[in-house]
Amino acid sequence: MQESSRVDDYLKCQFSDIALLLQLVLQKNSVWLINNKQYQLSKQEKNLLNGLIEKRKSGVPFAYLSGKQGFYHLNFKVTTDTLIPRPETEILIDIALDLCKNKPCNLLDLGTGSGNIAISLADKNPDWQVSATDFSENALAVARQNATSKINFYQGDWFAAVPNQTFDLIISNPPYIAENDAHLADLKHEPIEALSAGKDGLEAIKIIIKQAPLHLNKQGFLLLEHGYDQRKAIIEMLKAKFTSIKTFNDYNHQNRAILAQLKT
Ligand SMILES: C[S@@+](CC[C@H](N)C(=O)[O-])C[C@H]1O[C@@H](n2cnc3c(N)ncnc32)[C@H](O)[C@@H]1O
Repeated sequence: MQESSRVDDYLKCQFSDIALLLQLVLQKNSVWLINNKQYQLSKQEKNLLNGLIEKRKSGVPFAYLSGKQGFYHLNFKVTTDTLIPRPETEILIDIALDLCKNKPCNLLDLGTGSGNIAISLADKNPDWQVSATDFSENALAVARQNATSKINFYQGDWFAAVPNQTFDLIISNPPYIAENDAHLADLKHEPIEALSAGKDGLEAIKIIIKQAPLHLNKQGFLLLEHGYDQRKAIIEMLKAKFTSIKTFNDYNHQNRAILAQLKT
């Protein structure tokens, strides 16, 4: 792929992620790269780098090559069993921190994936009681490794993982992309069950909204991430059992989250 094996020559190539891949292979930061442009890669480093370049060019997300992704104030291990945490999801952390400021909170993160939501909140609030579920045992194994404080992890299909348990706050970033959405092709390296939810993308959200009242304490809250075009439909679903419905945009000004309180 590359004749020369100097950092300099790699940096000159047109591939946009080359500096990140060099840092990954050499285990050095960007300042080191700038100050060591004449460094000659060993044969082993060169082979590793060329393999990673090929994978990245074929569309494998950088996070799956590095095995980690930053989210809120922490770094999370990710594998192809977990969705790569998105910056849009950080809004759920801000909303939950604001909602339960200076209060005890018993919260549940449904569909935890790498554990990013549950773990960020538990790390910020060591006194909160935090539980997290996922259908995928493999995702849960990653989440357990990412945990920085005590979290109760449960495997199962949505609320079946926590029978008879109730919470002050239930949070979920469930799969919400329609199964025929063209965007899914761009996300083909991530687990499809983390992304897609039936014909309209609302299948998982419908289940969660229907069952959440049985698992919320009096005046408890449900906080959901959703697709940019799903807000109206979700408000309609919430109206029967929930009140004080608030909606939130992400940093891209797209409808992204909804908070609702259980009616008394
Ligand atoms: C959109 S991902 C969110 C992952 C992580 N919470 C985040 O914000 O990056 C949805 C998660 O829900 C899980 N999931 C899908 N169907 C489920 C089900 N029926 N019961 C429990 N979890 C499910 C997936 O395995 C995936 O980890």
